[in-house]
Amino acid sequence: MEDLSLHLLDLAENSIRSQATRIEISLVEEMERDLLTVRVKDNGKGMDLDAAGRAVDPFFSTKPGKKVGLGLALLAQAAREAEGALEVVSKPGQGTEVKATFRHSHPDRKPLGDIAATIEVLVAGNPEIDFVFEHRKGGEHTRLDTREMTRS
Ligand SMILES: Nc1ncnc2c1ncn2[C@@H]1O[C@H](COP(=O)(O)OP(=O)(O)OP(=O)(O)O)[C@@H](O)[C@H]1O
Ligand SMILES: [Mg+2]
Repeated sequence: MEDLSLHLLDLAENSIRSQATRIEISLVEEMERDLLTVRVKDNGKGMDLDAAGRAVDPFFSTKPGKKVGLGLALLAQAAREAEGALEVVSKPGQGTEVKATFRHSHPDRKPLGDIAATIEVLVAGNPEIDFVFEHRKGGEHTRLDTREMTRS
């Protein structure tokens, strides 16, 4: 996956598969800290401590008929390559939050890619899900909530 928007698509796909009805996606670019944070939070079925701990393992997947689950493993690798890290916090019955950090200026940090197109695909393809998308860069702030359909 050559850019972060594709990783975002994978994270959202995980959330959709977990039966989430609300998915919050946030991109925060803090230039003064040289930090990029990508976060996807859902209210899906979540994972117990054991599953959350193994989610990043490429040989852990609960997809039917699959023996490998590469999405989170590849994102963790992408984060590490840019001096960042991946964190998975989950509670059964409550939901999951995946957070990936990157050193913004790191030469190996993948580009964001076409985030707008990715959000569009997700929103158009999943009309029953409430998507909240937030992008902060310095003082700029974009927010879209499909339930409110307002932009600020
Ligand atoms: N948001 C989530 N909610 C609940 N479970 C999750 C979530 N994200 C990941 N998981 C669990 O972690 C496993 C591994 O996820 P990962 O994205 O790495 O692989 P995958 O989705 O199974 O396969 P792939 O991404 O390669 O298509 C999933 O199969 C699922 O059991
Ligand atoms: Mg996946």
